[in-house]
Amino acid sequence: MRTAIFPGSFDPVTLGHVDLICRAACLADRLIVGLLVNPDKQGYFSLEERQAMIARALPNLSNVSVLPFEGLLADFARAQGASLLVRGVRGAQDLQYEMDMAWANARLCDGLETILLPARPQLASISSSLVRQIARFGGDLSAFVPASAVDEITRRFYNGDNTATTGGSSHVKK
Ligand code: PNS
Repeated sequence: MRTAIFPGSFDPVTLGHVDLICRAACLADRLIVGLLVNPDKQGYFSLEERQAMIARALPNLSNVSVLPFEGLLADFARAQGASLLVRGVRGAQDLQYEMDMAWANARLCDGLETILLPARPQLASISSSLVRQIARFGGDLSAFVPASAVDEITRRFYNGDNTATTGGSSHVKK
């Protein structure tokens, strides 16, 4: 039984993430979407909000679950019995960082392999930070994030009068 982890911050989840999760689900018997809990850095969305947004966005995939993790990804992988990490690469700008992470994780957890999946060309320019920028000014998010997340993300960032908010809840980073 092969367990893989697709880790990330998902702040918020994008259509690029959803596509990669669906593709990664075919590569393992069990896929865990690992949601980073960073105690030093408050997210724009709480852990619960990010977890619910991902779960709502995914089609019915029986072998996929969404689990939070804190600390080292390699330790989380070991605790979950995972032998595979899956990450997306949107272009050359991502590659060196992803290779560095892959080698570090392999050193921290013996036998932990990383597969890098190329983003689909039509999704390769999407990032969570781009989504946040568009949302701040009330732009149409439907080509960037799952339909089930559009309203929640827009409400978090947009005042409705073309002025940006920093985000809508108490845990939001400034
Ligand atoms: O979506 P992101 O922000 O690009 O995801 C980055 C993530 C969560 C995969 C990475 O920051 C991570 O693994 N953090 C956990 C801490 C850790 O293990 N760092 C060392 C990796 S070499």
